[in-house]
Amino acid sequence: MMSTDDQSAPDWQNAGYRHVWMPYTQMQTAPLPLPVVATEGVYLTLADGRKLIDGMASWWTACHGYNHPHIRQAVEEQLRVMPHVMFGGINHEPALRLAARLAQLTPGNLNRVFFADSGSVAVEVALKIAVQFWLNRGVTGRTKFVSFQNAYHGDTTGAMSVCDPDNSMHSHFKGFLLEQYSHPIPQTEAEHAAFESFLTSKKNEIAGVIIEPLIQGAGGMKFHPPESVSRIRSACNHQNVLLIADEIATGFGRTGTMFACEQAEVVPDLLCVGKALTGGTLSFAATIATDEIFDAFLSDNPTHALMHGPTFMANPLACAAANASLDLFETEPRIQRAKSMDGELSQLLAPCREIDGVIDVRTKGAVGVVQVRRLHNLERLRARIVEEGVWLRPFGDMIYMTPALSMTPEELRTLCEATVRAVQEWSTWSVEE
Ligand SMILES: Cc1ncc(COP(=O)(O)O)c(C=O)c1O
Repeated sequence: MMSTDDQSAPDWQNAGYRHVWMPYTQMQTAPLPLPVVATEGVYLTLADGRKLIDGMASWWTACHGYNHPHIRQAVEEQLRVMPHVMFGGINHEPALRLAARLAQLTPGNLNRVFFADSGSVAVEVALKIAVQFWLNRGVTGRTKFVSFQNAYHGDTTGAMSVCDPDNSMHSHFKGFLLEQYSHPIPQTEAEHAAFESFLTSKKNEIAGVIIEPLIQGAGGMKFHPPESVSRIRSACNHQNVLLIADEIATGFGRTGTMFACEQAEVVPDLLCVGKALTGGTLSFAATIATDEIFDAFLSDNPTHALMHGPTFMANPLACAAANASLDLFETEPRIQRAKSMDGELSQLLAPCREIDGVIDVRTKGAVGVVQVRRLHNLERLRARIVEEGVWLRPFGDMIYMTPALSMTPEELRTLCEATVRAVQEWSTWSVEE
């Protein structure tokens, strides 16, 4: 394992690193992670006092920047009154207020909110609801899902089963996971026709189709147009198959509208949210169902109820943070900023197009992606970016950014110019074996 006795590392890191298991990390070879001691606005402060401008917003979550005083105050007040209480048989005001606000904010008749504690769990819940929806209606055999190539829906078992099966991240688990259908996202007339005929041929076994609308995240940061989503919705309607929109990454303004589905004028049957739900403050997520889906669970038969209930569901602290985050969407111009960031990112990252090894530069809302032919010298590039005073975490074949929606044009310029310099230098390094 990498040495934990790094002279420059703080004592707590040298003492504790040997006991922690880091995510998505080959622990034998990975360098020590950055020791972060504080966050504020769009900055991370390292143990040695350096400040990095954060281009990731902690995996798309800190949409208002870190430590927003409004969220902090709401969480502090909630902490004094009731940090947690179980949700089975008990209600509390922060959760019910949040449910009503989410029902109001989401498109169409997405009116029933099931709270979960992480995005993956929200996806698991959506899959279970979809399967049981058909059973409760007396339809058997609909237990499969269709997802799309490059899809990523989380790391738990059901969620992994609807990730792209060819994505190397989960390829070890092929024999263990339920087999689902994976299809390319249709974009041309011919592809839409092929998708629809595929659905026709399988519809009696399909419970639902699951999509990350407009931006596929961790599976490759691939974009597709709103028309793809609206025509997938139509195909699902024609074939009487449910549509699940996983907006865990795209929700809360990231694509330039509150939800990506709005750009496609689509109302999914189930909508998953997470990540930025609490403004990046606490782990929280939700699965939101239409009235029609919810009604299928109403019955005199107790077995028609949804048997799911995470211990910490609807945690009052998380609900308070989420309510405060929604306040900020009302009082601060987040959506406008996400829209304007698109043009800025596109302009500021454009110089990357000229760099050897870069094969694409694309932006959508507050997301910027520089895709390369092969991301060689990955750790060296990561370190180089940090030297520039920036925090990004390139992976796969891309260097990508999902900054806070509160980032100013000047901060965004600093972030992008540093990124361009780092990528330029990276392109001159000889390719390691
Ligand atoms: C689209 C999408 N779905 C699901 C998840 C899983 O969420 P979590 O990591 O909170 O379990 C993610 C996380 O990156 C995601 O981007």
